Amino acid sequence: MDRRYLVAGNWKMNKKLFDAFHLTSLISRQAEHLSTDVEIVLAPPAIYLHTINSMVKDLEHVRVAAQNCHQKNSGAYTGEISAPMLDAMNLSYVILGHSERRQHFHEDNALLAQKVDAVLDHTGMSVIFCCGEPLDVRERGEEKAYVQAQLEESLWHRSKEDFQRMVIAYEPIWAIGTGKTAAPDQAQSMHAFLRQLLTDRYGADTAQNIRLLYGGSCKPSNAASLFAQTDIDGALVGGASLQADDFIAIVKARIKRT
Ligand code: PGA
Repeated sequence: MDRRYLVAGNWKMNKKLFDAFHLTSLISRQAEHLSTDVEIVLAPPAIYLHTINSMVKDLEHVRVAAQNCHQKNSGAYTGEISAPMLDAMNLSYVILGHSERRQHFHEDNALLAQKVDAVLDHTGMSVIFCCGEPLDVRERGEEKAYVQAQLEESLWHRSKEDFQRMVIAYEPIWAIGTGKTAAPDQAQSMHAFLRQLLTDRYGADTAQNIRLLYGGSCKPSNAASLFAQTDIDGALVGGASLQADDFIAIVKARIKRT
């Protein structure tokens, strides 16, 4: 098994200019002294991407992600940002399919398939693809079928090789920003299911090499128990990534279990 663990901070629509740069400096100053075995990814709002990427460029284990991109390469789409534009800034990742994009911006599985294509076909970046079920689906016990459909409809048209540039984040919607984390065994059960789906579709090599992140109220107090699970390779952190010490504590919890 050859997975490099990864902890990503999704800042969402938070932090004004000075605070964004300050947070980046605090994180990178601490990251300098950490093991490079765990990859650290910062996903700030789009307007800060270029500067933040240059702030961390000397740290090989600290990478920068966009939170979204448009499905077209260019054109009359006022206010949008394309994958090749992000690529030209030398970013490493684009987060796609976050549940907030799905919910507030009506992004469905078919549209996300196009966005995945835009990144994989027209850039060198990797995708952090988010999936996860809402509470009512979990209460009906249908979460696995729901997440399976998200993967099938947005990712399964891609080749095995493409999965070298794919990270999958399982983020149960009921756990995002609610303080209610999935229990480690609940999260592990979904992650094992995802790895099995990947094995069935693309073979054991691909499935063993892909990083599967957990997201949803991950914080310093619960990170270690999540990372103790075999199939949880890291985290996509929202709220706790806005404080350097909390975020670094989560990274350290991951490092301890490498
Ligand atoms: P949260 O967000 O850690 O604040 O729950 C996670 C996410 O939305 O990626």
